[in-house]
Amino acid sequence: MSEDRYLTFALGKGRLAKKTMELFEEIGITCEEMKDPDSRKLIFVNEALKLRFFLAKGPDVPTYVEYGAADIGVVGRDTILEENRNVYEVLDLGYGKCRMCVCGPSSAKELLQHHERIRVASKYPGIARDYFYNKKHQTVEIIKLNGSVELGPLVELSDVIVDIVETGSTLRENGLEVLEEVCPLSARMIVNPVSMQMEGARIQKLVADIRARQN
Ligand code: PRP
Repeated sequence: MSEDRYLTFALGKGRLAKKTMELFEEIGITCEEMKDPDSRKLIFVNEALKLRFFLAKGPDVPTYVEYGAADIGVVGRDTILEENRNVYEVLDLGYGKCRMCVCGPSSAKELLQHHERIRVASKYPGIARDYFYNKKHQTVEIIKLNGSVELGPLVELSDVIVDIVETGSTLRENGLEVLEEVCPLSARMIVNPVSMQMEGARIQKLVADIRARQN
């Protein structure tokens, strides 16, 4: 494909995008206009390298990539699993490391042993369903929450939660603990399948440059 085509990146807003741009800088991919903290611009361009970047809500990143509105996305594995979009996951970026876990009070441990029908609160109903139904073969009632999921067991909305654990301090400060680990998480690079065909060389070089930095 011609070098004139822009390669478009969708980055999950916040800490992840900052980390990603730092990593990109190390391999010579910069975007000066993205560094202005007062900017309200949504799309940032590096004309010389024919690159475009935009920031999106994490759960929307796989959507932009599946539809080809972005060739490449960077987002947490939690979001990739939950959104279950038709994208290629090409690289573990190694940062944003944390774990998806089943958590609750220690008294809830035994509820996970005997296939009981329990209530599970989560911001990630797809991941929770897959874990309980397909891995544990336990029928559960899943209650979708949008944040502060640790409240679930504290106010008796649910028996346990499926949520992200990073340092563990939110759990500790609320008398909860990790009961089971669902999977490890970190930031991943995803690619639109058609872009992978059309822009394969540019994308593979990018992946190789990042890999070389990682080693
Ligand atoms: C995440 C996650 C936990 C917390 C875990 O929440 O859902 O609540 O961080 O981190 P820790 O193990 O270091 O305490 P986030 O801050 O994204 O807010 P949310 O609860 O509104 O989702």
